[in-house]
Amino acid sequence: MHAQVNIGIKEVKNLHYFWSTIIQPIFEAIQPKNIIEIGSDRGDNTLNLLKYCQENNAKLHVIDPLPQYDVDSWQAKYGELVTFHLSLSLHALPLIERFDLVLIDGDHNWYTVFNELKLIEKLSLEMNQPFPLILLHDIAWPYARRDLYYNPDTIPEEYRQPYEKKGMRPGRSELLPTGGLNSHLNNAIYENKERNGVLTAIEDFLTETQQSIDLVKISGLHGLGLLIPPQFKEEHDTFTNFVKIFSISPRINKFIGQIEAARLETEFSLRETNSNKDRRMEKLLRILIISLLAIFYWTKVNGYAKSLRKNRDKTGES
Ligand SMILES: C[S@@+](CC[C@H](N)C(=O)[O-])C[C@H]1O[C@@H](n2cnc3c(N)ncnc32)[C@H](O)[C@@H]1O
Repeated sequence: MHAQVNIGIKEVKNLHYFWSTIIQPIFEAIQPKNIIEIGSDRGDNTLNLLKYCQENNAKLHVIDPLPQYDVDSWQAKYGELVTFHLSLSLHALPLIERFDLVLIDGDHNWYTVFNELKLIEKLSLEMNQPFPLILLHDIAWPYARRDLYYNPDTIPEEYRQPYEKKGMRPGRSELLPTGGLNSHLNNAIYENKERNGVLTAIEDFLTETQQSIDLVKISGLHGLGLLIPPQFKEEHDTFTNFVKIFSISPRINKFIGQIEAARLETEFSLRETNSNKDRRMEKLLRILIISLLAIFYWTKVNGYAKSLRKNRDKTGES
């Protein structure tokens, strides 16, 4: 059910769309026991991870300052399988003792992602553990080369791009005056600058690290990145063969890019049609309410005038 691609008004923005085709086969191949999820939101992907943990005796750490579900009831239901960290990733990561696999889908900006990767590397080295397998969402448009800030105050000023609460559209570098994707979020005004965007953060981390970590990019649905540490290639044959499927030719990649652009255009057209319909409905509703009010007041005024006339007639008669 989760593999279904929803081309509609609802934005296709969640990691769980990758679950049955990509994430679950990876989990089956490497059998991680200590999983970290950064960015849980409505918990669509968290539920997949929790089911995996139940069936495989694994543990999950969920990091999100503002998850959109009742954490207490989930905690009661899943007990020791899960630890919730209701804080920022850079504060919560040092509290975790083991990382086998990390899913990063939290604050999509250079500062956060670069430092999440740096911190995971530092903590793994300190704990004498190998660098974990990392899956990152949103490595393609719109946040590959443009920052998003869930809460700009949490980003040091020198790393914060100028931003506005305005939406984006593929093929346009400027933010839109109205509408577009994620117009309710703080998006950097400019893209393609230094220290800007998720993919830039990953590339900058890979330039600095001493380890030979591979980046595999999977196109579509805003892009999924796999950071594969050296030991994985030797230790996990099934995983390595699975990942090879995604090393596709640039021509096929370009074709997938075109499909993604068409998907986004369809989404925008549907959204515009719907908002036009909404505007027409709003106008009709306004006319209806004004007419009802006018009728109500006219009846009242008319009733009052009638009673006045009646009184006058009565006094005239007497
Ligand atoms: C795109 S949503 C995550 C979607 C989720 N992974 C899914 O597949 O359904 C991003 C989430 O990251 C959270 N978030 C924002 N900044 C964060 C940070 N610094 N650390 C951890 N989570 C963060 C937000 O509260 C939001 O719920």
